[in-house]
Amino acid sequence: MPMPEKYQLREVFSAEVIAKRVRELATEIDAAYARLGAEEILLVGILKGACVFYTDLLRALKTPALVDFMQVSSYVGQQSSGELTIHKDLVRDIAERHVLVVEDIVDTGLTLSLLLKNLQERQPASLKLCTALDKAAARRYPLEPDFVGFGAEERFWVGYGLDYNEYFRGLPYIGELILE
Ligand code: IMP
Repeated sequence: MPMPEKYQLREVFSAEVIAKRVRELATEIDAAYARLGAEEILLVGILKGACVFYTDLLRALKTPALVDFMQVSSYVGQQSSGELTIHKDLVRDIAERHVLVVEDIVDTGLTLSLLLKNLQERQPASLKLCTALDKAAARRYPLEPDFVGFGAEERFWVGYGLDYNEYFRGLPYIGELILE
């Protein structure tokens, strides 16, 4: 799919604002895991959108973090209420580990609700979700992220890992994409 021919980008969350929020989030996350008595966490990054947020968060955390990734997609078919396809699974066994899933954006909540159910069946010591953006008003499947970078309106967001047809992931800020 080509790059859109006519579009506007409206910067909403600048690189500086994001960097400050990531530091705050890391402090919140460190405190939450200290309360849990967790000595280390397993950070599960969801490819590809979370790649930028993930590496920023990883470097901001003080709690020792192990690294792993998944790539998944979801759909609702005529016969199903929601199917998860795992394109790339974890390398590590997560049983008894404190797992923190790191996502770019939660929209309807379908993908993450299916993914968290799948991970919960692997019996981690704890399972939490951190997302850079939360389109809470778009939720159609019950899902409450534990850590949220920014609440976001129901618009189409790109940059800082988020894409439109694979484009714009490398923008240092998060902006609204307006197609003309
Ligand atoms: P959900 O299953 O409806 O919550 O959709 C989650 C996935 O949809 C995210 O991981 C993104 O890949 C994609 N997505 C939803 N909203 C946006 C957006 O505003 N910009 C870019 N990708 C989005």
